[in-house]
This record gives sequence, C-alpha cells and structure tokens, in this order.
Amino acid sequence: MTRFVFLADTHVGARPMGYQQQPGHPARLPELLNALRERIAAEGGADFVLHGGDLTDAATEENIGAAAAAFAALGVPVRLCLGNHDLTAPDAAELWRKNAPEFFAGGRPEYTILTPDIAVHVAPNHWCEQPYFWKDRQREHFSEDQLAWLRSELRRRPDLPHTLVAHSPVFGLPPEQTGLDAPLHAPGVEFAETVFALADEFPQLRLVLGAHNHMNSRVERRGVQYVTVSSFVETPFEVKWIEVSSARLAMRTLRLGTTESPGEYRPDHAYAQGRDQDRALETRLP
Ligand SMILES: [Fe+2]
Repeated sequence: MTRFVFLADTHVGARPMGYQQQPGHPARLPELLNALRERIAAEGGADFVLHGGDLTDAATEENIGAAAAAFAALGVPVRLCLGNHDLTAPDAAELWRKNAPEFFAGGRPEYTILTPDIAVHVAPNHWCEQPYFWKDRQREHFSEDQLAWLRSELRRRPDLPHTLVAHSPVFGLPPEQTGLDAPLHAPGVEFAETVFALADEFPQLRLVLGAHNHMNSRVERRGVQYVTVSSFVETPFEVKWIEVSSARLAMRTLRLGTTESPGEYRPDHAYAQGRDQDRALETRLP
C-alpha cells in the first residue's frame, strides 16, 4: 500500500497572507510541521508528502531556503507542484532547481512519482504567456510540451491508477457546498476542458488533485475524483491523507487544529472545510 499526505498553500514569507479563507499563520509553519510529523507517525508512516503549490508567497532565495529548512524537519520525502506564488520571478524555475532540488524528481518542474501502487504526475500549470512565471493574470493552462509529456506518462503503466496534480483546481466549489449562487473560485473553462479530455482519453486517471482555492472540495465526474485541499497554515490546519492499494483508493481529511477558538475561525466561511462527502473518499479499484 502507498500512503501519502497532500497539503498546500503554506505561503512561506507572507507578512501577512493576501488571499485567505480562514485566518492564516504562515509564520507558524515549523510548529505545524512538527504536529504533522507526530500525526504521520501516529498514522503508521507515510511514503511521501506532496505539496500542491504556493509553498512560498514569492519566489525569492530567502523564502525558498526557509521553506526547504522547515520541510526538511518532517523526515519524510517532500515533493512540490509549483504554484503561482512560487513563480513570481522570471527565473523562478531555475531558482527552485538551484536552491531546493529535493522538492523535484529529475530536476524538472514536471515529474512522475511512481510507487508499486500508483503513478502520480506532477504538472504545474502555467498562468501567463511566459511559462513558469506568474505576474498578474490567471489563465490556467498546460503548455503543448506539458500535454505531450502528460500523455506519454499516462500511457505508461496502464495497470496502475494514475493521479494528476496541478496547482489550479479543475472545478469551482459547488453551490450545494457553499450555499452561494454560482460555483466558487472556478478556473477558466479552457483548463477544465483540457483536463476532462485527458481523463476521457486515459481511464487509468482516477484522481486529480488541486490547491490554490484554500478550500476542501471533492467532485466526481465520469468516475474521476477531483479533490482540492484547504491551506495548511489556515485554521484549522488540514491535510489530505491518501491511501492506495491494488483494490482501493481512499482519502481522509486530517485536522491538526480546531475551529473552536474564538476569533480564530470564520463560521461564514465554514464551506472551506467542506461537508463530510467533500472531505473523504473511498473507491474500489478494478
Ligand atoms: Fe495559488
């Protein structure tokens, strides 16, 4: 069985965080990672931790160094899917490669984590015309190179369930979850349709992970699970615990903090935590 943690949006170096759904505490990251290390041990150990992006608030050597030092204390391999805030410098990809190569396999932003139970494809979507650089626009998309790479990786090991990780979500939060009139924080139609085309072409793709919205969600489309995770440094400090074996794909949401501290939780944004059905998943694999 393969077990891994999916977390995101730690915004190292933010003073304070800009976009937040719940009160954010990026300066408490070392303390939160200590709590996560203990929780991972209590769960029996994890094979790796996957960060869904916005590890840092801005791509500087100082932030990347601080993030690398904080996550090294986990004692578990950590892999990163670069988010828009990790790409705020024109040479951001090179900064990451030089200062924190341990977050990537094979020295590129795109790579596959292959275990005996699952193939996880990490593909940081682009935001602007210049690849691996985010300035002001948000047009979530994969480049032709990324799509060609993804197709060739998805073709390998059709016997395994596959997972795709991008920083952008594929779905907005459904009105049934938020109580609002329209999907919340939805990406552009182009990005969703690109991912749907991949899912329709490759039935081995079973799980698509995203971040960026700082909210937990789970939407199923044609047998594929689309999951996003809330910000690890926002109250109540949640991560996804994912287990995959030859017969089963399961996901739970682990909470390291509480929603009970007065002033530390916004009940009007409780949809960020999601309903029970948004927080867990149990699927039999064929
Ligand atoms: Fe983001």
